[in-house]
Amino acid sequence: MGKYQEEKMKFGKMLSHKIENNIINIRFQEKAVFIKVLNSYIINFFVPLHREERNSKAVGNLKDDYYDFKVENITNGIQIITEKLVCKIYDEFKVDIYDKRGTLLCADYRGESKPFKRRYGDYMLAESEGHSLREESDYKVYVSKRMEEEMYFYGFGEKTGHLNKKGYHYVNWNTDNPKPHGETFDRLYKSIPFFVGLSKDNAFGIFFDNHFETHFDMGKDNSEYYYFAAVDGNLDYYFIYGPSVKNVIKGYTEITGKMPLPQIWTLGYQQCRWSYDSEERLMEIASTLREKEIPCDTLYLDIDYMDGYRVFTWDNEKFQNPEVMIKKLNNMGFKVVTIIDPGVKVDKGYKIYDEGLRKGYFATDKSGITYVNEVWPGDAVYPDFLNSKVRDWWSGNQKIMIDSGVSGIWNDMNEPASFRGPLPDDVMFNNDGITVNHKEAHNVYGHMMAKATYDGVKKATGKRPFVVTRACYAGTQKYSTVWTGDNQSTWEHLRMSIPMLMNLGLSGMAFCGTDVGGFGYDCTGELLSRWVQVGAFTPLFRNHSSMGTRDQEPWAFDKDTEEINKKYIKLRYKLIPYIYDMMWECSKNGAPLIRPLLFNYQSDKNTYEINDEFLCGDNILVAPVVEQGLKARSIYLPEGENWIDYWTKEEYKGGQYIIKKTPLDLCPIFIKGGTLIPVGQVQNYIGEKQSNSLTIEVYLSNDNSDTEYNHYVDDGESFKYELGEFNNYKIKVVNKEKIEIKIDLINYRYDDKYENIEFIVHNLNKKTLVINGETVEVINGKAFIANPAR
Ligand code: GLC
Repeated sequence: MGKYQEEKMKFGKMLSHKIENNIINIRFQEKAVFIKVLNSYIINFFVPLHREERNSKAVGNLKDDYYDFKVENITNGIQIITEKLVCKIYDEFKVDIYDKRGTLLCADYRGESKPFKRRYGDYMLAESEGHSLREESDYKVYVSKRMEEEMYFYGFGEKTGHLNKKGYHYVNWNTDNPKPHGETFDRLYKSIPFFVGLSKDNAFGIFFDNHFETHFDMGKDNSEYYYFAAVDGNLDYYFIYGPSVKNVIKGYTEITGKMPLPQIWTLGYQQCRWSYDSEERLMEIASTLREKEIPCDTLYLDIDYMDGYRVFTWDNEKFQNPEVMIKKLNNMGFKVVTIIDPGVKVDKGYKIYDEGLRKGYFATDKSGITYVNEVWPGDAVYPDFLNSKVRDWWSGNQKIMIDSGVSGIWNDMNEPASFRGPLPDDVMFNNDGITVNHKEAHNVYGHMMAKATYDGVKKATGKRPFVVTRACYAGTQKYSTVWTGDNQSTWEHLRMSIPMLMNLGLSGMAFCGTDVGGFGYDCTGELLSRWVQVGAFTPLFRNHSSMGTRDQEPWAFDKDTEEINKKYIKLRYKLIPYIYDMMWECSKNGAPLIRPLLFNYQSDKNTYEINDEFLCGDNILVAPVVEQGLKARSIYLPEGENWIDYWTKEEYKGGQYIIKKTPLDLCPIFIKGGTLIPVGQVQNYIGEKQSNSLTIEVYLSNDNSDTEYNHYVDDGESFKYELGEFNNYKIKVVNKEKIEIKIDLINYRYDDKYENIEFIVHNLNKKTLVINGETVEVINGKAFIANPAR
C-alpha cells in the first residue's frame, strides 16, 4: 500500500474566491482549486496538480447551465448552497457536505493518516522472492474522508469479493492475471474509480476521474476514515448526492454516459469457445443448437479464425470462404462475433503492421522506436489508441470484418496484456499532441480501443454496435458491453459472479456478464445447470470456456443438464420483451438490469449485504443456488411488497426470510406483486417468429394499489429510435373491486402496432376484469383484447 506524500496535498489558508459562471475558483496559500456546480446534486472538485487542463477520458460534454446556487462566507471558509446541498469549504481545502436538512453526508477527515502495521518475517520475504510484485508507488493525490456510522460501500467496477466493500482496499490498474481470481485480488481487468457510500439511508457517490493507478481504501487502513488516492495526475472528483442509490447512479451516468440501447439480438443466448476453430466445427455447433431447439442468437469466433493471429485476417484453410459461411449462419438465424485483440503481429508484408508502422501508429519507447512485446502472434506492437488518428484508422479497419458478414466485435487483451513482462512505465503514447507515458495511458487503453471499435462498427453497419471489451475505464458503457474475463469453472466463481456483476451495474457498466459455466478448468453438469440459471437473467448471456477444458455446450454433459439449459435459455427468450424494456429504461436513467436488492429497497436494511440474490429489472427477484448439492435455500424477500413464486404462484409477504426447496432444475424466482411482465414467444432466435401480438402477465398487488408499466417496441437494430420512431405502451392496472386495465399508446411512431394483447392475470380471485372500458371474459386466467390501443 502506498504512502501519501503529505507536502503534495498541502493547501494552506484560504485567501480568496471568485465566481465565474458555475465555477468557484478558490485561491489557497499553496494551490488553486476549481469547484464546479453541475446541478443541484453534483459538484466537481478540481485541482490541477499534474496538468492545467482536465483531459478526461470518461466525461463528455457536460451541460454547463446551472447557476442556481449561492456562495456565502463562513468562519474560516465559504459555503456553496444548491437546492439540495450545502457544501462547506475550509482552510487546507477541507470539504464537508450536508443535505438541506443539515445531515452531514460526507466530511473530510482531519486526523492523521494511521495505517495498520504489517509485520514481515525473513522467511516470508524469502518465499516471495522471485515473484514479481509490482512495487507500490507513493500517492501524489490523496483525499481521505471520515468514516460515518453504519457505512456501506458499493461500485468500484469489477472487483472480486462481496457486494459491500467496506474494510477493503482496491487498486485500479487494469490487470490480466490468469490465476483463479479470488477475494485476495485487489485489481482485475477494469478500472472504474467510482463508488457509492450509503449511511443511514442516505447515499452519495464519488467519482475520482484519474486514470493513473488509483487506490481506494474503504476503512482497511484504519476504520476511522476511508480514502482515494492516485500515484499521479490531477485531483478531479465529483460528489454525487442521492439520497437514493438510484439517483447516484443516474447522476454518475449523466457524467460518464449511459449504456446505449443495444440491438435486441444481443440479448439472446450466445455460444462461445476458445475456439470453434474451423468452419466444420462452427457449423456443427450451429446445427446442433437448431436440431436440439436450444435458442441461440450468437456464435463467437475466438483467436484461431485468424491467419497466424494477425488481426483483421482470416485463416483461409480453416475458413475457406467466411462470407459464404456467415451468410449460411445468418440464414439459420445466427449472428457471428469475432475477437479482435490490440496486439499487431510484427510481420513485414502484413498490411496492418506495415500501414501502422509507416504512419507511426504504434506506441514507442522513450526514444521513439516502436515498442515490441509479445502476445498471441509472437512479437507484437501496440496501436496507440490515445491518438485520434490511430482510432480513426482502427475504426476504418472494422469494415474488413463487417464486410465479411460479422455482426459484432469482441475486444480482448486490451489492458494491455503482454507475455514478456508488463509494459515499462516509459512506453510512450501520443495523446493527440501531448506525449504521455504508459503510467498515464494504461488504464484507458482498452477504453479508447473500445471507442474506436464502436465508432468503426457504427460507421460500417449504421446499426447499434455490439462491442464486447475486457478492459475498461469509467464511461466505457457508452461504447461496449463487458464480461469479467477469465473466471474458472468453480462454485466459488459462480458465487462471486453475482456481487461482481451487481457492482459493475452500480458502476455504470449495465451491459455485463460472466463466462457462463466458467472459462478455465473443467465444468460439471451440475455447475453449468446452476450457472445457466444465473446467466438467463444477466444482460450478457454467454457460455464460454478455455482451450483444453472439457466441452461446455448445453448438451456436453448429460440429458438432464441439457434439459435444464434448454429450460432456462427458453425462459430468457420468453422474457426478452421485459428485458428489452428494462434496457430501454437503463439507457435513459442508468438503472442496471442486474442489481442488488438495496437498489430498489434502500429503506430495508436487510437488503444491504445480500450477495446471492439479485433483481432482474424492477419486477423479478432471482435467488439462484450457488452451492453444489444444495437442496433448499433461504431467501429474503424485501419488505413493502407481496412476492409471487414464479413457478407455483404462491404468494409471500415481503420483509421475511423463507426457505424454498431447490431441486437441480429449479431456480427460485419471485415476481413483485403489482407488476406486469410482457412476455414473448419462445423461438430459436430473436425475430424468428414474426408476430404482432403480445402477452402480458399481470401479478396483482395485495393492497389494492395501482400499477403502471411502460412497454417499449422499436425495430430492434437501428438508430431510428433516437428520432422517436418507437412505440411506447403505457399500461395501467387499477386494482379495486374490479381489475381495470387501460392501455395507452403514448408514442406511436414505429409501424408495427400490436393487433392483439393477451393478458394472463395471476391470482385474479373472481374479480371482474375490465380492459379499456370493456368487461372481458377470463378463461383460465387469460383474457384477450384486440386492437388494444388505437
Ligand atoms: C483471453 C480471454 C478469453 C479468450 C482467450 C483467447 O484469455 O479472456 O476469453 O478465449 O484470451 O483469445
